[in-house]
Amino acid sequence: MRVLLCVGGGIAAYKACELARLLVKAGSQVRCALTRAAQKFVTPLTFQALTGQPVLTDLFAAEQELAAGHIALADWAEIAVVAPATANLISRLRMGRANDAVTAALLAIPPRRWLIAPAMNEKMWASPAVQENLGILCDRGARVIGPAVGEMAERSHVGPGRLVEPPEIVAAVLRRRDLEGVPVLVTAGPTREALDPVRFLSNPSSGKMGYALAEAARDRGANVTLIAGPTSLPDVRDVRLVHIESAEDLARAVDEHIAQVRVVVMAAAVADQRPARKAAQKVKKTEGKEVLELVRTPDILAGLGARKVHPLLVGFAAETQDVEQNARDKLSRKQLDLIVANDVKDAFGKETNRVVVLAKDGGRAELSGTKIALAHAIWDMVRSRLRA
Ligand SMILES: Cc1cc2nc3c(=O)[nH]c(=O)nc-3n(C[C@H](O)[C@H](O)[C@H](O)COP(=O)(O)O)c2cc1C
Repeated sequence: MRVLLCVGGGIAAYKACELARLLVKAGSQVRCALTRAAQKFVTPLTFQALTGQPVLTDLFAAEQELAAGHIALADWAEIAVVAPATANLISRLRMGRANDAVTAALLAIPPRRWLIAPAMNEKMWASPAVQENLGILCDRGARVIGPAVGEMAERSHVGPGRLVEPPEIVAAVLRRRDLEGVPVLVTAGPTREALDPVRFLSNPSSGKMGYALAEAARDRGANVTLIAGPTSLPDVRDVRLVHIESAEDLARAVDEHIAQVRVVVMAAAVADQRPARKAAQKVKKTEGKEVLELVRTPDILAGLGARKVHPLLVGFAAETQDVEQNARDKLSRKQLDLIVANDVKDAFGKETNRVVVLAKDGGRAELSGTKIALAHAIWDMVRSRLRA
């Protein structure tokens, strides 16, 4: 793979050195271009030493233009990785400004061949300008990876804005769009089962795993519908998002979309029971014992598995004991193709997870890592079975 690595002037520029090294190690041919600001953080010499190739830094340097000018590099590159993509660089790309070597080269490459890895302070990331600019780059076909959530360079700041770790960017570079055009349905988050207008039964699912699955499928070219219970996560770009509250809403929404999809991944933590009655008004305190009557909610996965013809079905099992055995039972009882089993203590609300994936055909994989890395590993397993 011929990779043009474009480095912006953010504090995470030092990680671009590792990224260049890992890309070379993975067998890619790597050329680098640095903005003027990037050169305040890291030197062209570092990238030249890591890649064994001259580095583009100056649009008007005669010797650079002669060796491999910005257009020659653009023609050469199969993919352009922008890491770190600063707020400034993102805005210049949105506007089509070609006022340095990096943007001049990038503008000569179609946006669908850009992989943008933003990195900035979480407040900059939240700014409407950055969000709008990036949204427009996505609309033009650019892929975006991250940012990751965590501690910022200013140690007191935490949030989305960190550069995704270099190994994940390498994985994204090397990954082909192997789900191009495949319609998939992902469910995520908890459900809420109302007791009265102000109270509900729910669970602590954050929705992160389901959202990661939707994002990963989108990046591999799938047409994604994401049905999500209440979460605090930002919407996933370029994904059809359907918000639901209860297990019954979820069942209805799945029913509406099922005929059009080839894969269903049920990562939502769906309530198995709901209160038998929802009070029309807020329930008042009463003296003595109160008994809550529960009824079963629809078993969406089992319903899908029982159909004569159904999409490839992936279930999740969040267990507190006998994780693998319980998951294996669920796999066969609900007639699923794959099941992703995790221990509740490893999963809920965290950025990482540890899972065992079991397949109807006997396949088994133990996976651990960030939820986005796991999501890709799960799609790898789905992809190989779709082909079959
Ligand atoms: C110490 C320091 C750290 C910075 N870190 C970031 C950053 O992480 N992300 C960002 O978007 N801008 C950051 N900036 C601001 C950019 O350097 C500035 O907007 C610059 O114009 C970016 O130019 P470029 O996009 O051409 O590389 C930082 C500035 C300084 C002084």
